[in-house]
Amino acid sequence: MKVDNMTALDAKFEAQKLAFGPFFFQAIVAMRDLGVLDEISRHRSGISIEALSTKLNLSSYGLSVLLEAGLLSNVVQQAEDKRYKLTKVGVFLRSDELTDVNINFTRDVCYDGLKYLKDSIVSGKPEGLRVFGSHKTVYHALAELSDDVRKSWFGFDHYYSTDSFPYALDIVFKEKIGHLLDIGGNTGKWTIKCCTRDSEIKITIADLPGQIKSAKENLSQYEFYNRVQFYPCDMLKAETVLPKSGDVIWMSQFLDCFSTDEILAILNKVNEAADEHTTIYIMESFWDNQAYRAGAYAIVGLSLYFTCIANGNSKMFKLDDLLPLIPKAGLKVVETHPLIGNTFNTLLKLKKV
Ligand SMILES: C[S@@+](CC[C@H](N)C(=O)[O-])C[C@H]1O[C@@H](n2cnc3c(N)ncnc32)[C@H](O)[C@@H]1O
Repeated sequence: MKVDNMTALDAKFEAQKLAFGPFFFQAIVAMRDLGVLDEISRHRSGISIEALSTKLNLSSYGLSVLLEAGLLSNVVQQAEDKRYKLTKVGVFLRSDELTDVNINFTRDVCYDGLKYLKDSIVSGKPEGLRVFGSHKTVYHALAELSDDVRKSWFGFDHYYSTDSFPYALDIVFKEKIGHLLDIGGNTGKWTIKCCTRDSEIKITIADLPGQIKSAKENLSQYEFYNRVQFYPCDMLKAETVLPKSGDVIWMSQFLDCFSTDEILAILNKVNEAADEHTTIYIMESFWDNQAYRAGAYAIVGLSLYFTCIANGNSKMFKLDDLLPLIPKAGLKVVETHPLIGNTFNTLLKLKKV
């Protein structure tokens, strides 16, 4: 536990950063999207507000409020001649992929609904999801969201898993796999990687009907399409039974979509679908096991999205939150691969007990 040794003045300043957080977030988004950060970055010795105004066709007034917010949030700095330059924070806000993906997700998927967070804590439902209509969970809504919201959601979703896939493939394909069941297979990104890696493997993607439709459209353009089967299902329904044919059952960033009771029910279904030869993989970002503070901060923020927008009852785990559920479902961890490829993800390899 970190000792609270902050001075009262510093603490008061930290409290104001939180009180005005949404203002500064929107100011930074505006500076990025209006090209202010890009334009400043082109001038190593800085650029004046007048020159920015002419170049971007924005009023000096508008630029002044944004740049002053940027100054106090350490995004831009001002030289003695009053010209603006980017700070290191500004450089990351302009060109770092993690930052970009997180900002788009916050702006397009979460911002409007997050004001209902308090209601979600009380009701246990994703109250913020109402800004997109009436849906049980964000996953039931995905297929119907507008293109810009879907783009930001998928950009975010894929970012946190795709970089890990090459490292996961090397672990999973150490053994020859005839058939792999990809639960929560989404648009088929992992399936594409597997079918490209192995010219014989057959895959079944299990997901909600809306995502299965997108996966079919996406995969139909590939020559391996006839090796992929689709299993539309709702894993939360008691009557859902998984197909039995998997040598490998793969769940990447899937279990974090559920409460612990739901995870246990899903792992029991996995157990029923597996036999003693089946290998089960769980790939998750555990927030207490991140290489960098930036990763842990983003992942803890993500828990609030699950509460308010996604489903009202799931969160990003610590490894110790998930581990006790595994033996309860008659499964055991046989290998742990922490932070594969120095990404956000840990890969657990499981077998039936
Ligand atoms: C966070 S995404 C992960 C996608 C992909 N596996 C990856 O690693 O990028 C979770 C996936 O689980 C699916 N999902 C969520 N709830 C589900 C449910 N009740 N039944 C079946 N699939 C579900 C979603 O549709 C989505 O495709």
